[in-house]
Formats: sequence, C-alpha cells, structure tokens
Amino acid sequence: MKKRVLVTGSLGFIGSYFVELLLKKGYYVINIDKMTYAARKDLDFNKYQNYEFIEEDIVKLKHLPPNIDYLVNFAAESHVDNAILSNGVFFESNVYGVYNLLELLRGKDPADVPIFIHISTDEVYGDIFSDSHKETDMLKPSNPYAATKSAAEQLIFAWGRTYGIKYKICRSSNNYGYGQYPEKLIPKTILYTFENKKMTIHGNGSARREWTYVSDNVEGIYLVMEKGVAGEIYNISSNEEYSVLEIVKMILKEMGKPEDFYVFVEDRPGQDIRYSIDSSKMKNLGWRPEMTLKQYLSEYIKLSKENFNKK
Ligand SMILES: NC(=O)c1ccc[n+]([C@@H]2O[C@H](COP(=O)([O-])OP(=O)(O)OC[C@H]3O[C@@H](n4cnc5c(N)ncnc54)[C@H](O)[C@@H]3O)[C@@H](O)[C@H]2O)c1
Repeated sequence: MKKRVLVTGSLGFIGSYFVELLLKKGYYVINIDKMTYAARKDLDFNKYQNYEFIEEDIVKLKHLPPNIDYLVNFAAESHVDNAILSNGVFFESNVYGVYNLLELLRGKDPADVPIFIHISTDEVYGDIFSDSHKETDMLKPSNPYAATKSAAEQLIFAWGRTYGIKYKICRSSNNYGYGQYPEKLIPKTILYTFENKKMTIHGNGSARREWTYVSDNVEGIYLVMEKGVAGEIYNISSNEEYSVLEIVKMILKEMGKPEDFYVFVEDRPGQDIRYSIDSSKMKNLGWRPEMTLKQYLSEYIKLSKENFNKK
C-alpha cells in the first residue's frame, strides 16, 4: 500500500514541488497550509484523487490525521528582509509552529507516530569565508529568520532525545525555479526587468550564495524521507555559487538589458558574506543535482513572461 504523507506549507514554493512529486509517485498526500501571501494560487492539486487539503495554521493545529507515515514540514515565513522588519510572525510560525507539531507528535498513540521530516536551511550555520559547512558544524545564525530556523532545530533535537520523536532534518541552500514569490532575488530581478524597473541590490552585491534547482532539492528531500537515517541531518546543495551581483547581471544579460540596469541600496543589517554547505552525505545516499542555473534561466524567464503577460 502506498504511504500517507502529511505536508505542511505545501502551497509554498518548495512544498508545492514536493507535493507534486509525491502525488505523481502515487503517495496519499494531506496538505496543510495557512495560505499566507506566499502560497501559490496557480496550482490545482484537487485533480488528484490521492490528495486532501486542510487550510490551517501549524501554530493552531489541534490534531494530526491518523495513519500517516511521514510529516514533512515546509511551513515557515521564509523571507529574510521581512524578518528584519517584523520578526514576530517568524517566531510564531517557524518556532512555535514546530513546537506545536512536536507536541502533537508526542501526544499521539505510540503505534501511530509518523517520522518528522523538517525542512531547514543553510542559513542556520551563518556565513563561512572559505570551504563549506558540514552537518556537524556549530549553528551560528546571523539574522532573525535564520535564528528562528535554528531554534526550531534545537527543539527537534531535544524532543528527539527526551521524548523519542523520530526526525530527519534537511538543510537546503537557496532554491530557484518557477513559482517562487517575487520578493526573492531571482524572480524579483525578472519581474523588475519586465516592468522596466532597476533591480535593487543590497550593499555592493558581493554576498555569495549557493543555488539549487527546486526539483533537485525536492528529489533530495524525498530521498531523505525514504532512505535517510532517523536522527540525522542532511545538507542539500548543488554548490553552484554566485554573488548577488553576478546573478542580477546574468539575468539582465539573458533578458537583453544593459548589464548595469540595477541600483545599489543600503546593505541588509546582519548580512552574511557567504554560505556554502558540504552535501557529501546526500551524495552517499545517491543524490545528484541535475540542473544548473545557467541551463534553466532561459526557461525560467520564458515561463515568467507567459505569466506576466496574463496579468
Ligand atoms: N526558498 C529557499 O530558497 C529555501 C532555502 C532553504 C530552506 N528553505 C525552507 O524551505 C521551506 C519552504 O520555503 P519556501 O521558499 O517554499 O517558502 P514560501 O514562503 O514560498 O512558502 C511557505 C508556505 O508556508 C505556508 N505557511 C507559512 N506559515 C504557515 C503556518 N504557520 N502554518 C501553515 N502554513 C504556513 C505559506 O502559506 C506558504 O504556502 C521553509 O521552511 C524555508 O525555511 C527555503
């Protein structure tokens, strides 16, 4: 019998790709999403028979459905700039929401407790100037978003050790792909360029990030869910690294704009200089990223243009 998976934050950017993957593989999927501004409105999973949707906040959720094999938690406030301006909702969803899920797991009949797969981020490590963070490295978050993601992990470790909750944690690098809310670097640059507005770049654009294609990331999360070891953490990154300025220039070039069609604005307070994570553990599980940003960009712009023209 195919497994039953409860996915939270399932209408967000990464969660939606994950749900699509599970539905296509024939899993029974129960989606929970609060439908914040970031939830995708362009999806119709209801066409699948093996799908159920519950509109709910993970902070307020009172029960977990019975007979689920995995609970995969994508639900979070995810944008660093928003967290810098107003961090309360980040604490609510990213920390208290995880606390509530852990307590609901703890309250279940021991014979019916699913494995908790938690989606975290490379931001929990803070920055690194050379080399790459390993899963065993200390967590040293620099901004309020990263701090809430790190705090959630600390709760999971403690609930695992004290109450025996079985968990696996995925720490992913920045993702890219169609469907991401246009507050994030790549879709925002594409949107601004369509609107003939100059993209704004924090500081001098030298902050460096690693970029993983969203479908590669969700294949990795799926592998961790099915083959990963309980109690383990997995870094997931294609290790394709660019500065913010390099990304913006790459997009401008692809869209036929002058390569200086941007404006520098004040840097993010707490800006991390560089993130990099070592994904050897994922490679040992058999994971290989298949896409690169350079390969995908023209398709991304084409899809975004079709969507832009519909408005
Ligand atoms: N986007 C990235 O590049 C990236 C990188 C590493 C890790 N992550 C992590 O992956 C996860 C998903 O990120 P994303 O980019 O898809 O986020 P997103 O902002 O696109 O989507 C988040 C989804 O969660 C839902 N949500 C938010 N708070 C909720 C709550 N309290 N209860 C129920 N649903 C809630 C929203 O409605 C939305 O559908 C997050 O946990 C994020 O920290 C993201």
